[in-house]
Amino acid sequence: MPPRTVQRRCPAKLNLFLEVLGRRPDGYHELSTVMVPVGLYDTLTVREAKGFRLEVDGPPLPGTNTVEKAYRAVAKRRKIPGVRASLAKGIPAGSGMGGGSSDAAAMIEALDTLFDLGLDRHEVAAEIGSDVNFFLERGPALCSGRGEKVAPIPSGPELHAVILWPGFSLSTAAVYARVRDFLTPRPRVVIDFLNSFGREGPEGLGRVLFNRLELAAFALHPELSALRGKLAGMLKAGARMTGSGSALYGLCASSAEAGRLARRVRGQFAGFVAPAALLSREDAWKSRKSASNSSAVAPTSSAHSAR
Ligand code: C5P
Repeated sequence: MPPRTVQRRCPAKLNLFLEVLGRRPDGYHELSTVMVPVGLYDTLTVREAKGFRLEVDGPPLPGTNTVEKAYRAVAKRRKIPGVRASLAKGIPAGSGMGGGSSDAAAMIEALDTLFDLGLDRHEVAAEIGSDVNFFLERGPALCSGRGEKVAPIPSGPELHAVILWPGFSLSTAAVYARVRDFLTPRPRVVIDFLNSFGREGPEGLGRVLFNRLELAAFALHPELSALRGKLAGMLKAGARMTGSGSALYGLCASSAEAGRLARRVRGQFAGFVAPAALLSREDAWKSRKSASNSSAVAPTSSAHSAR
């Protein structure tokens, strides 16, 4: 019998709202953030083998890959066979789009499925990184704690994004270390955002998008602030940074508009530019197994799922 294989697409995410509520005794920061999966993917293939081997197509990433961390975390809890994993990267690393976390969530799910482990997937996920739990849920969510407490929220009208990654990565730890200088005694509350999300189109929503980490990232990389200003000038709904950066995005109403704007943005900026649909829970579940589209690294190839 050929070895069993599981293949999963691992979507990226955008933070549409992110407020930092304060620093915790454990060194992490308490967050209030709304994250939405988007149709830009890595693809993870896992098959039973001897030992553990991971192949990544793309530039080597610093540190232990989150896919390997996920394997080790599962192996600590259950006796499992070895695997050979291959990861096709379509999401730039160190961009604030959650690629590593999404890959780890897919690995936990793949191992649980392949070996029928009955894992508490969320418990394993929280050990690997703050955003991994979000990717197990698949769908727009309000996340709190250090990001690992995930409350699903309903999605509304179709939305798309144009994403610009300027080609350099930011260290999440470095951005959080700098955010201390920008915390306010009266943090922004998420309620205005939640009242708009699911009701308003890109322009209305554009007015309530927020990311406290921008200030810290811009302090570390002033050119990112200038880039955001320029990008915002090209998009009706403004532009924001996602997560701890360095990717920037703007929202628009249709796949056609996102494609058109992406071509214009690509003409003006160096780096990775991709149009991508914001995914509802249903979209994200449907898209996880369609292995034929690996999203590759080509900026134009992100999937647009119909809602
Ligand atoms: O959880 P994750 O491994 O993604 O976090 C990377 C680093 O980012 C942490 O070591 C920490 O320095 C910082 N971080 C934080 N507060 C969070 C999430 C991450 O300070 N809520």
